[in-house]
Amino acid sequence: MLNGKVALITGGSRGIGAAIARELASQGADLALVYAGNKDTADALCAEMTETYGVKAAAYQCNVADFNATKETVNQIKKEFGTVHILVNNAGITKDGLLAMMKDSQFDDVISVNLKGAFNMIRHCTPLFIRNRGGRIISISSVTGIMGNAGQANYAASKAGLIGLTKSVARELASRGITCNAVAPGFIDTDMTKELHDSPLAASIPLGRMGKPEEVAQAVAFLANADYITGEVIKVDGGIAM
Ligand code: NAI
Repeated sequence: MLNGKVALITGGSRGIGAAIARELASQGADLALVYAGNKDTADALCAEMTETYGVKAAAYQCNVADFNATKETVNQIKKEFGTVHILVNNAGITKDGLLAMMKDSQFDDVISVNLKGAFNMIRHCTPLFIRNRGGRIISISSVTGIMGNAGQANYAASKAGLIGLTKSVARELASRGITCNAVAPGFIDTDMTKELHDSPLAASIPLGRMGKPEEVAQAVAFLANADYITGEVIKVDGGIAM
C-alpha cells in the first residue's frame, strides 16, 4: 500500500498514465500529475481521484523536454505536497517514419521528450529522494527499445536509452535506498496505438490480444511497492518480446 506517499506521474492525464494514476491512488498515494496540454482532462482526473479514493491530487502543465520548466514544476510540487516519493516517467511521443526519410527534427523531438524528459525529471527529483533516504523511479520504456522496430528508429533509440539510463541511475543511487526500474509494454490499447489494431504485429502477440493500460499500471504499482528490485526491466507485452 502507498498511503502517505506522493507520486509524480508525467503524461498522467490519459492512456497508460491515467491508468497508473488510478492504480496508485487506489493504493492511497497522493498524485501530482504532469500534463502537456489538456488541463480539463487532467483536472477532471484529479477531482475523480480525490472523490473516489480521498487522496490529494493536483495537475501541473509542463513540457518534460524543458530542463528549466521541469525544475520549476518539481519545486512547485515540493511546495504543495512537501516532497515526492515515487516518480513515474510515462510521458512519451512517436514521430514514426522510415530512416531514409526521417527528418532530424523528428529524431530530436522524440529523444527530447522520451529520453531527455525522463532525465530532467530524475535530475530534479533526486535531491528530494536523497533527503528522504529513499525513492522509487519507474520509467515506461517499450519492447521496441529491446527488439527494435522498422519505422521507429527514433522511438526505439529513446526507449533503449531509457533502459541504459535506468540501469545507470539504479547503480548510482542504490546506496541511498533509491530504486530505479523500467516497465516495457508491448502493444497497449491507447490513443498512441489506435492505428495498430489490424496490423500484422498485433496479430503476432502470443497471448492473442493487445494489452490494457491497467495491466501496465499493475506492474508500475508492483515496482512502487518493491524494496529489493532495482535496475530491472519488466515486460508487459503478452509474450511478444520473449
Ligand atoms: P498517449 O499518447 O495516450 O499518452 C502520452 C502522454 O504523454 C499524454 O498524456 C501526453 O500529453 C504526454 N506527453 C507527451 N509529450 C509530453 C511532453 N512534452 N511533456 C509532458 N507530457 C507529454 O500514449 P500512451 O499509450 O498512454 O503512452 C504512455 C507511455 O507508454 C509512453 O511513454 C509510450 O511511449 C509508452 N508505451 C506505450 C505503448 C502502447 O502500446 N500504447 C507501448 C509501449 C510503450
